[in-house]
Parts: sequence; C-alpha cells; structure tokens
Amino acid sequence: MRVHVADHPLITHKLTVLRDKNTPSPTFRALAEELMTLLAYEATRNVRVETVQVETPVATATGLAISSPRPLVVPILRAGLGMLEGMVNLVPTAEVGFLGMVRDEETLQPTTYAERLPDDLSNRQCFVLDPMLATGGSLIAAIDFLLARGAVDVTAVCLIAAPEGLAAVEKAMAGRDVTIVLGAVDEKLNELGYIVPGLGDAGDRLYGLV
Ligand code: PRP
Ligand code: URA
Repeated sequence: MRVHVADHPLITHKLTVLRDKNTPSPTFRALAEELMTLLAYEATRNVRVETVQVETPVATATGLAISSPRPLVVPILRAGLGMLEGMVNLVPTAEVGFLGMVRDEETLQPTTYAERLPDDLSNRQCFVLDPMLATGGSLIAAIDFLLARGAVDVTAVCLIAAPEGLAAVEKAMAGRDVTIVLGAVDEKLNELGYIVPGLGDAGDRLYGLV
C-alpha cells in the first residue's frame, strides 16, 4: 500500500478554511469540491492510458487517452458525495458507483446501507472518495468490498486522516495494490472517534444534521 500526503500550500490554505467552524455549508461544499480536484491530479497519476493518434491541422500527433474499461469513481455516502463533482470535473469519462456507509456512534463500527456498483469489477481501476479517515473502519470495508469484486487497484482520496486510522488501513491493506491520497494527517482521534483538530462531522457540515 502507498500513502501520499499532499503538501501544496493551496491545499493547506483551503483545508484551513474548511476546518473553521464558522465556514458556512455553501462555502464548505465549494471547498470540498475544489480540494478534490486538486488532489485528483495526484490520485490519477497512474490512471491507465493508451496511445492514440489525432490529426492536428498541421500533422499527426501521438497522445494518450484513458483506457477501457473506464475508471470507476465510488463516493462513500453521505460525505463522499461532496467530493464527487471535483473528481468527475477532471475525469469526465469515469463511471460512478455508490456505497452508502454509516458509523455507529457508540461502537464506531461501519455498516453498509446502500450499494450500487457493477457486480464484476475485474480489470477496473477504482477511486474511493471520502473526506474523513478516522478509525479507518469505513475505508477498509469499502476497499475490501471493491477488491472482493475483482477491482485491479484502488486509490482512496481523503481530505483528512487520523494517524491511528491510517495505520489501521495500512495494516489491513499490506501487500495489496492500494493507494491513499490525503490532504493532511492530523494529530489524533479523540475518545468519541473524531479527528483532532479535524473539521467536525463532514456529512453534517456538507448537508446539515439528520
Ligand atoms: C464519516 C466519514 C467516513 C467515516 C469515517 O461518515 O464520512 O465515512 O465517518 O469514520 P471511520 O474512519 O471511523 O470509519 P459517517 O459515518 O459520519 O456518515 P455520513 O457521511 O453519512 O455523515
Ligand atoms: N467522521 C467525520 O465526519 N469526522 C470525524 O472527525 C470522524 C468521522
């Protein structure tokens, strides 16, 4: 498993505004999308491509096109939905599948309540989107799900991770073709399973309380 933490000042600047408890939902949503687009450059570094030729007005040019089967982007509902537009803006030919997961507030264990994915992911590159990697339970379950369906490799993009959760994902995914791209690794998890300093509950800040 590989981990890449983006250390671009523009990413840190936008994350700082995102963390601010006074940032309202519309700004929070716009920033989550923009951050995803910035992180997508790193996340798609190894996207599979093939050589193609096009005719310019002057001559034949050799270039690259994204290969088939097309990449599959999987936002984890709810909060991952806030990153989807930022990803598909950059990779408009990607297909999109959905996984709905929620953590039990007491046990911190995730359950899957919705799934809309192709049955067979053989030979597919998958990109999982979820802003928060806290205990790592949700991300481990999501990646396991995709690999069990035959995904060839999985790249997860998270805005903020806790070191404890990142270590848990690294342990669970050791030796597997998995990449985690992060905007920041924070200090710790607190006793309630929240990332410190983090940004609070990402789903609530995007979409309000449920
Ligand atoms: C949040 C977040 C991750 C998960 C991370 O989702 O978006 O999916 O918690 O926690 P973990 O690493 O400890 O598993 P939540 O369960 O709050 O659902 P929501 O997106 O609907 O708000
Ligand atoms: N989920 C969130 O939305 N925030 C956290 O800090 C941890 C889990």
